[in-house]
Amino acid sequence: MNSTVPTFSLAALSKGEDQEAFHRCMTRAGVCYLTDTGVSEEDHRHATRTATDFFARGSAEEKAAVTTSVPTMRRGYSALEAESTAQVTNTGTYTDYSESFSMGIGGNLFPSPAFEAVWQDYFDRLYRATQDTARAVLVASGSYDGPDLDELLDADPVLRLRYFPEVPEHRAAELVPRRMAPHYDLSIVTLIHQTPCANGFVSLQAEIDGEMVSLPHVPGTVVAMCGAIAPLVTQGRVPAPRHHVISPGAGQREGSDRTSSVFFLRPATDFSFSVPKARAYGLDVSLDAETATFGDWIGTNYVTMHATKA
Ligand SMILES: [Fe+2]
Repeated sequence: MNSTVPTFSLAALSKGEDQEAFHRCMTRAGVCYLTDTGVSEEDHRHATRTATDFFARGSAEEKAAVTTSVPTMRRGYSALEAESTAQVTNTGTYTDYSESFSMGIGGNLFPSPAFEAVWQDYFDRLYRATQDTARAVLVASGSYDGPDLDELLDADPVLRLRYFPEVPEHRAAELVPRRMAPHYDLSIVTLIHQTPCANGFVSLQAEIDGEMVSLPHVPGTVVAMCGAIAPLVTQGRVPAPRHHVISPGAGQREGSDRTSSVFFLRPATDFSFSVPKARAYGLDVSLDAETATFGDWIGTNYVTMHATKA
């Protein structure tokens, strides 16, 4: 399954190269692959292994010690099927078939100092890469109309590693088509690194020109996907593509486990926007006000999705 999504070098974009092609891609699709991000394939794999080892070997007590009791918190460990993107987006009742570890700038819950050292370094590097990506997207859009750009990008990021195990019989695609429901991210930009399924199954798909396009793992790259803040600060020019994580069919369950490491570059909770404009850009904002803040928004229907009140 080949993706039609193009690849750009983040280092080249940051030097002002490829602006026209990048502008075309981001205003049409809002998603691309990136190389030269300053975070290597081995960096991603090392952090991923550190987390999945904990998922596999951590005791129930160790997991409980880093599990937050606040449901909106995006910190520490979250168990298999503890969350449901389908429920918070009103698209179904099924759970997310994944377990995860999340961290942000502060209030973190690390299982050990060794884990913390690996993840803090990984977080810092991904944070810089995602800020550079957002800068490139918003500059290339030619229509940035928001707060001071450095201020917008220095806010409330969240990094989350999800492990999607081989799906059991009752979660095969014939019964529950998805591991995670369709949604757009509540971020400015999101960077995603995936490990591929051993059996070649491709789970991640994003909507481009009305069609769900597969986004396979491409070695040495990350997927850059614009979130809901991108249209809000570009007068709707840059879309926030909907995406979902599909389940393999009954015959493809074996070898279908995978991981995704996702860095959400999120604005401060006091970032404000026009509600009618947000609706005109296709965003699902149910707030009854002319102007709302990001904090108001994540406090309503999307409260448990990709959101934390730090
Ligand atoms: Fe997402």
